Amino acid sequence: MVCLGNICRSPLAEGILRDKVAKANLTTPQVDSAGTAPYHIGENPDKRSILNAHKHGIDISKHIGRQLNRTDFQTYDRIYVMDESNYGNAIELAGDDSEKEKLKLILDELNPGMGQSVPDPYYGGEDGFEEVFQLLDKACDVILNELVNTIRDQKKI
Ligand code: 4NP
Repeated sequence: MVCLGNICRSPLAEGILRDKVAKANLTTPQVDSAGTAPYHIGENPDKRSILNAHKHGIDISKHIGRQLNRTDFQTYDRIYVMDESNYGNAIELAGDDSEKEKLKLILDELNPGMGQSVPDPYYGGEDGFEEVFQLLDKACDVILNELVNTIRDQKKI
């Protein structure tokens, strides 16, 4: 999960997907988050994101901010960005075409090809964080379904 600062949207997305993966008893998916910018490396998430997650029964307070790097494109199968700007920054770190194909706008999971962005809540109020949560929660439901199907298909082989 990737945003700009790795303190508002992507730690929330990571927490939401982790929670769904755990509740579905999946053990193999590894979920992480990072920012395209270095501003908040080493910091815990924004208090408003921590509070919003807590309200939904998810603890993201211990996440430590980090910056996306080239190795992430080798380590992870799917890299979800929150907006077009993150996409533009992240694609620069991808190596070959197979790595570029791993990069997706997360809201394309909900509305394929629409190019929608998860709004940046950093400069707004609490309600912006709830809006972000609701969007990410729906997108992560779709991602979870895909993970369940992928894992089931792998077991058939
Ligand atoms: P995020 O939000 O990308 O969702 O973590 C932001 C966090 C920090 C800044 C901008 C957006 N900033 O400019 O420091």
